[in-house]
Amino acid sequence: MITCSAPGKIYLFGEHAVVYGHSAICCAIDIRTRVQVEKCDSIVIESVLGRTGIDHDIHPYVSRVIEKMQEHAEFKGLRVRVDSKLPVGSGLGSSAAVTVAGIQALNHLFGCGLQLEDIARIGHSIEKEVQGNASPTDTYVSTMGGVVMIPQRRKLQALDCPIVIGNTGRFSSTRELVANVAKLKGEFPEIIDPILEDIGSMSAIAEEYVNRKDYLTIGRLMNVNHGLLDAIGVGGPELSALVYAARNSGATAAKITGAGGGGCMVALADENSAQRIAKAIRDTGAEALITRNTGEGVRLE
Ligand code: MEV
Repeated sequence: MITCSAPGKIYLFGEHAVVYGHSAICCAIDIRTRVQVEKCDSIVIESVLGRTGIDHDIHPYVSRVIEKMQEHAEFKGLRVRVDSKLPVGSGLGSSAAVTVAGIQALNHLFGCGLQLEDIARIGHSIEKEVQGNASPTDTYVSTMGGVVMIPQRRKLQALDCPIVIGNTGRFSSTRELVANVAKLKGEFPEIIDPILEDIGSMSAIAEEYVNRKDYLTIGRLMNVNHGLLDAIGVGGPELSALVYAARNSGATAAKITGAGGGGCMVALADENSAQRIAKAIRDTGAEALITRNTGEGVRLE
């Protein structure tokens, strides 16, 4: 039996714009998904979503991981158990984490000899198949850990401050939100293209501040990024309520993270304000988590 785990992520900058090749800065967080695999007679996938065989509706990512890994190893039966601390459909990269941890677990179980770059690449191709359109960001950062600039694949300095996450509890479909942005961009390219370019420029400018650990400047830019995400239609009243609750209780920055719609927002805090920000988020009725950046990507447990 083999168990592998992979981290979730938050975006400091660049979600949605990165789908169109603009830069993003993404940060792995210390909340992980574990995938346990063992050989058996038939294919069984178990998670909080249920117990299935290959099932592209209930377990789309794990089902594709199994199918893809059949190109690298010969097997008929397999038991896969998923245990995730990352809420599903919340923008924290749960699909990338389960995909990457699943590929690495099967890589170890069958001795396929895949390297981390291969795992990130296969993970990205699976996300593209399931989501319709997906950038390599989530799967790359979940594989490698740390703080990463995409598409350059450059590792930046670690983020040392507490990260507070507010979860609206409303499921957010990345596929749908990416498609909505594509529709808006198709209708109004003169308006939406420059916004996406500005988001990309923000990541490029912010790189230096991340490496200098200048959290005040990073925070000011993240707040601007939030406004631009709202402008392209991926915000919403629940997310805004959490963003302003966090800012009003001392967050250095607060913005949507991930696909938006529902899902999560992220706030940067200092050691003294993290608990206060989490409480302000909980007082609105939402769930709050305090976490940190992790340098560890996918790993054997
Ligand atoms: C989802 O976590 C981030 C998006 O930019 C989609 C993607 O990068 O594939 C919205």
